[in-house]
Amino acid sequence: MMVTATLIVGTLATVAPVSTSGALAQDAARGARLAAEHCARCHYLTPELGNSDIGPGLVGVTNRPPGSGAAGPGPANDSYPYGEDFKQAMALNPWQWTGQTLDAYIRDPTLFLRQRLGRKEARSKMTYKIPDPGDRADIIEFLRQLR
Ligand code: HEC
Repeated sequence: MMVTATLIVGTLATVAPVSTSGALAQDAARGARLAAEHCARCHYLTPELGNSDIGPGLVGVTNRPPGSGAAGPGPANDSYPYGEDFKQAMALNPWQWTGQTLDAYIRDPTLFLRQRLGRKEARSKMTYKIPDPGDRADIIEFLRQLR
């Protein structure tokens, strides 16, 4: 009995840090600070956090299809000009923005497109990566609240 309990606790402790965003404690306030630091230079988030049009606006990203972001703040703007490989991936192997797909995307956007397209030469217009799973989980929690 003792041995079994120890084994289970040990296994959970090993698995927790590498599991997907859903299993980590999420902190939207910390996510907002991380997004201001890492995402606002290229994306519109809120009037306070950023006003860049290098990438698509991220307001409501968890409630809309991929590739439907505005090219600037607010819905009155033109739609953002996505990269060819992003558009091709959407057409050939569509996905929705969920915690899981956002986690995979911001971990490595080019790898995400390569996997969806099955093509090693595929490239993302977004080259930025967030390697830390805890940082990604908090940023995604913040994105969920960004409406
Ligand atoms: C150096 C600029 C840059 C940074 C920094 C950056 N991005 Fe991006 N992002 C882009 C570009 C450019 C695209 C468009 C990708 C394409 O068309 O292939 C994009 C696309 C996206 C998309 C797809 C949105 C849609 O409309 O479907 C998401 C989600 C995203 N970025 C999230 C983030 C998050 C979260 C961060 C911060 C952790 C971040 N990005 C940091 C440039 C950036």
